[in-house]
Amino acid sequence: MRLTIAIDGPAAAGKGTLSRALAAAFGLAHLDTGLIYRATGRRTLDGTAAIEAARTLTATDLEAADLRTPEVARAASVVAAIPEVRAALVDFQRAFARRQGGAVLDGRDIGTIICPDAEVKFFVTASDAVRAERRYRELVATGHDVTREAVLADLRERDARDSARASAPMKPAEDAVTLDTSGMDIGAAVAAAVQMVTEKT
Ligand code: C5P
Repeated sequence: MRLTIAIDGPAAAGKGTLSRALAAAFGLAHLDTGLIYRATGRRTLDGTAAIEAARTLTATDLEAADLRTPEVARAASVVAAIPEVRAALVDFQRAFARRQGGAVLDGRDIGTIICPDAEVKFFVTASDAVRAERRYRELVATGHDVTREAVLADLRERDARDSARASAPMKPAEDAVTLDTSGMDIGAAVAAAVQMVTEKT
């Protein structure tokens, strides 16, 4: 059986770590779909129009060094609200999900729009305070000059935009299992998720 795992949720909830761990545990390929929106947003900061940037995105764009900055995250969330941008990026994501060996995709609309037939779906959340602290530490560790307050404000602004947009808003699929990682260390979250995937497959 080809296994597809869909992982959605707000920024810094632990989707990335969980996705990589599940991919390793079950021998699946992993696609961080946020990177595609970040690369598109990154190109708009250079002056390319958003729809044009999405339609002409290349593998090289996904390798840009500065995709993890707060500015690029904000630009990603702005372009992600444009229906034509999302439409231009759907095929690539669905083709990835159909890979021979199975795949884990993480983002905001994987369980609802990109892979509605995924065998296993998670919606990963954590409190605003926990998410902001995690992202703050990541950014400081990678040399960014940020404050906790600014990181929290950025996350809230981005989540609000991602949830309120008309096109593929962030929300749990009806058949998604919600995993709140606020009080869990990541090892416990991974163990819980591996157990759930094993039970469902
Ligand atoms: O996951 P990450 O924080 O890297 O995503 C950056 C932005 O890309 C999100 O805030 C969201 O606006 C957008 N995104 C999306 N749909 C996805 C993945 C990301 O709209 N599947």
